[in-house]
Amino acid sequence: MTCPFAQLLLNWYRQHARTLPWRSSRDPYAIWVSEIMLQQTQVDSVIPYYTRWMQRFPTIKTLADAEEQAVLKVWEGLGYYSRARNLHKAAMLVMSDYNGVLPDQAPDLEKLPGIGPYTAGAIASIAFGRNAAALDGNIKRVYARLFAVEEPINSPAGIKQLDHLAQQALPSGDAGDYNQALMDLGSSICTARNPACGSCPISSCCEAFRTGQQNTLPVKNARPRIPHYTVTAAVIAKDQKVLLARRPDTGMLAGLWEYPGGKLEKGEDLHTCLKREILEELGVEIEPNGRIGLYRH
Ligand code: ADE
Repeated sequence: MTCPFAQLLLNWYRQHARTLPWRSSRDPYAIWVSEIMLQQTQVDSVIPYYTRWMQRFPTIKTLADAEEQAVLKVWEGLGYYSRARNLHKAAMLVMSDYNGVLPDQAPDLEKLPGIGPYTAGAIASIAFGRNAAALDGNIKRVYARLFAVEEPINSPAGIKQLDHLAQQALPSGDAGDYNQALMDLGSSICTARNPACGSCPISSCCEAFRTGQQNTLPVKNARPRIPHYTVTAAVIAKDQKVLLARRPDTGMLAGLWEYPGGKLEKGEDLHTCLKREILEELGVEIEPNGRIGLYRH
């Protein structure tokens, strides 16, 4: 008999599930919003934004009817702003093309802007009870340890293997709770470093634990290094007003407002960079009159 990890995990979840605001809702829209906010952002940071968002845009229609600038304002501070822009676009599409009703199957959800395979699986299982897997970074780590997957989990072969294992593992009819149990396990016990195998409800089924590989699995291929840039920005004030510029509609921080400026080029000093950028972007000649600050971000 295969080890009953899914049942063990569900039993554990029913006793230890974190109480989170979106977990008390059966509204697919609320679950959709939470899953978009939880992409790339920790639960604790999401909670206040989620609460404010649901007060301001309680339904798909209220979101679809809002101006993009109003939507971005409520998202302000959460980062990765294309998430807000895509959520807004998707809400408009649901109103125009889906009669105002969010699709209930993962492949249809994936057609909406901002919803990839993981988020589609999470929404389909949690909001609609579908048997869909949801493989994010945490859950990939759990499976890589549970089944001692030795392929790098960010390689095509590793992803294929994990997809297959995740699909096989789904407990029919309980995929929503099961996926959320995996999320909780991955963030609280089966952590990237120093996993707490002593408290793990499925350690008796875990191949990495059995063979002492919990600290060496999963294996990952190195990712490209994060680039670092030196950037200048000008605070240009006149008549109690400050000049802000809107960034282009594509690329990093698309469409957001900023103090005008830009990246330092090779061989350039900060002063020259700032003058050049302001001239290029705004057609304005300036003479910087001192430094306000130097920030590392
Ligand atoms: N991360 C992504 N989705 C989540 C959820 N539904 N609960 C907790 N953490 C999550």
